[in-house]
Amino acid sequence: MSADLQAVATKLVANGKGILAADETVPTITRRFEALGIPSTEQSRRTYREMLFTAPGAADYLSGAILQDETIHQESSSGASMARALAERGVTPGIKVDAGTRPLAGAPSETVTEGLDGLRERLAEYRGLGARFAKWRAVFRITEATPSPMCIAANAHALARYAALCQEQDLVPIVEPEVLMDGSHTIERCEEITGAVLHAVFHALFEQGVALEGMLLKPNMVIAGKECSRQAPVHEVATATLRCLRRHAPAAVPGIVFLSGGQNARLATTHLNEINRLPGPKPWKISFSYGRALQDPALEAWHGRDENLSAGQRALYHRASCNGAASVGKYTDEVEAGSPGADDPPHRRDWRDD
Ligand code: 13P
Repeated sequence: MSADLQAVATKLVANGKGILAADETVPTITRRFEALGIPSTEQSRRTYREMLFTAPGAADYLSGAILQDETIHQESSSGASMARALAERGVTPGIKVDAGTRPLAGAPSETVTEGLDGLRERLAEYRGLGARFAKWRAVFRITEATPSPMCIAANAHALARYAALCQEQDLVPIVEPEVLMDGSHTIERCEEITGAVLHAVFHALFEQGVALEGMLLKPNMVIAGKECSRQAPVHEVATATLRCLRRHAPAAVPGIVFLSGGQNARLATTHLNEINRLPGPKPWKISFSYGRALQDPALEAWHGRDENLSAGQRALYHRASCNGAASVGKYTDEVEAGSPGADDPPHRRDWRDD
């Protein structure tokens, strides 16, 4: 592994900073836009992403941003590529490289994430376009019978093959095994499944020779299913999440950057803050790589209208600053005060097909 990879991974979890996940595929961002009556065109998606990437001051709290294929090929209105516009602000550009989920043969209610074919060449292209890190998301759904051992094994193997290819191509892999919040499972079951998934993922990473110092882990928090009648309080979520990570995430990994997974914006911040405030050993930096929890208030404020671009940027800045504070355990009501739309309605958080 090159020293560079470790340096990039470490920089992505610099003190008080985290990652903006803005890598929704065209169908997913289109559904989010349509819920607000915003037409989804190449131009409107470009305008929206540029609004996020150029939000004044947000780079103080954002170490990196994850793009997807369309965005990394687009130019900002200054004529620079989107990746360059980010890099000029000190924000490291990254790229989603998985090709989404497909039904898993032999277990059709479950999925495996695809995209390994031709990945080496795509990674080389993205590196040339300015990406310095990549992301691959595997998905696990909790029911009484799932995730099955074969689903865990297939996805762990694919994540590890992806991570090894990234490091070969000089890109830091973000390894994202997401145990979904959908369902009525308890927090205890989420902890059990998240632990089993992380165990399998790190075993596969070891088998594929992935250097842990040059990667980041992007897990879910340990949380009860959305339909579970008992929603655990913040302290319990934080305690269970940290316990699970201590048991299953090696200390050599420089950073853990959570996904928000459909939590509302303030709760995602509160949980991150509480995890960072817990006593005891935390051998990795613990920060965020949020999509919806960073973007939803900004999308709502913008609403597809040019006259709202500044309001959208202020909303993103605010969430980024709150999460930056939470990444060092310094988020308070005072930091939060004045947040536009943080308790946004859940209807735009329900889609995560990529
Ligand atoms: P959410 O924070 O909306 O779950 O999205 C994160 C993500 O997976 C994008 O990479």
